[in-house]
Amino acid sequence: MLFKKFLGIDLGTDATRIYLKGAGIVVNEPSFVAFNNRTNRVVAVGAEAKKMLSRTPSHITALQPLSHGVIADFDVAKEMLQRFLKNDRIPWSWMTETVVSVPTNLTEVERKSVEDLMREVGASAVHLIEQPLAAAIGSRLDVGEPTAYLILDIGAGAADIAVISMNGIVVSRRLKTAGDFLNHEIIRGVRDELKLAIGEPTAEEIKTVAGSAMPGGERLEITVRGRDVASGLPHEIIIRDAQVRAWLQRPLKSVVEVVKDLIEDTPPELVGDIYRNGIYLCGGGSLLRGIDQLIQKEIGVAVQVVEDPLNCVARGTGL
Ligand SMILES: Nc1ncnc2c1ncn2[C@@H]1O[C@H](COP(=O)(O)OP(=O)(O)OP(=O)(O)O)[C@@H](O)[C@H]1O
Ligand SMILES: [Mg+2]
Repeated sequence: MLFKKFLGIDLGTDATRIYLKGAGIVVNEPSFVAFNNRTNRVVAVGAEAKKMLSRTPSHITALQPLSHGVIADFDVAKEMLQRFLKNDRIPWSWMTETVVSVPTNLTEVERKSVEDLMREVGASAVHLIEQPLAAAIGSRLDVGEPTAYLILDIGAGAADIAVISMNGIVVSRRLKTAGDFLNHEIIRGVRDELKLAIGEPTAEEIKTVAGSAMPGGERLEITVRGRDVASGLPHEIIIRDAQVRAWLQRPLKSVVEVVKDLIEDTPPELVGDIYRNGIYLCGGGSLLRGIDQLIQKEIGVAVQVVEDPLNCVARGTGL
């Protein structure tokens, strides 16, 4: 007799993660595809394609098939996923059912697009689960209990905020201010204040090496190279944590405002649960230094980053 195999997929703006029950995370690759425009063929996917970003010659284009967590280019997403699924660790067959995590508040058309994509790559059945719920399950919170949890998933393309109780989402918000937006604010700050033009990978490095949401004990700095805006020539500068913090202040404040707004819309009994249980942070954005402290200070509720915040959504789809 054949047993059904369940495959959990987190199709993220920045990364695709695939979880297989019993085996764990079997795919963890950047959601990037590089094309040769002359031959119209895919030259690389995943980490190799992401490395080409901002460095491609004119006949190569590196792109992301997902935008703000939503499929923006169906054909490219399909090509990418097909290649990720050609993996020795995945027993892909017609019996395979997939559980795919999706952002909250998707339109019917967007949900259908995810289902169509999965069927076209060979899934026999497709189940969708909202990302904050998957994150909570993946973090082993008691989501089935009559108590509420507030989950804040700060990804690359979007932040999803949801109050979860008894296996369902009670209220949720979604905003496009997330990791990619923070990078854009860094690019803008470096250009406007320090007169240096930099690309996305450098901005990402500045954020991870010298970025923070609150002043911490250690002083951080990073040396970066780019193009001097005035002379047009290569130039090198040192950037310090206080500068990066100032550039990130506005977008982080907007995330905090949306969390406050969501709590105002939450039934009072559940607000009491959230006070007791605390707020859970996940997604790559939760790795920004001091973001938990900032939210705790602004909201007045204990905040904790879940264990393995990058993979919890994928784990939750497969458990
Ligand atoms: N140490 C870090 N400090 C700050 N940000 C980080 C750190 N590490 C990763 N990130 C950011 O986390 C984001 C990626 O997170 P994640 O993998 O959760 O996104 P995703 O699931 O692909 O996107 P989405 O859920 O929005 O579709 C990127 O924007 C990245 O810059
Ligand atoms: Mg995500």
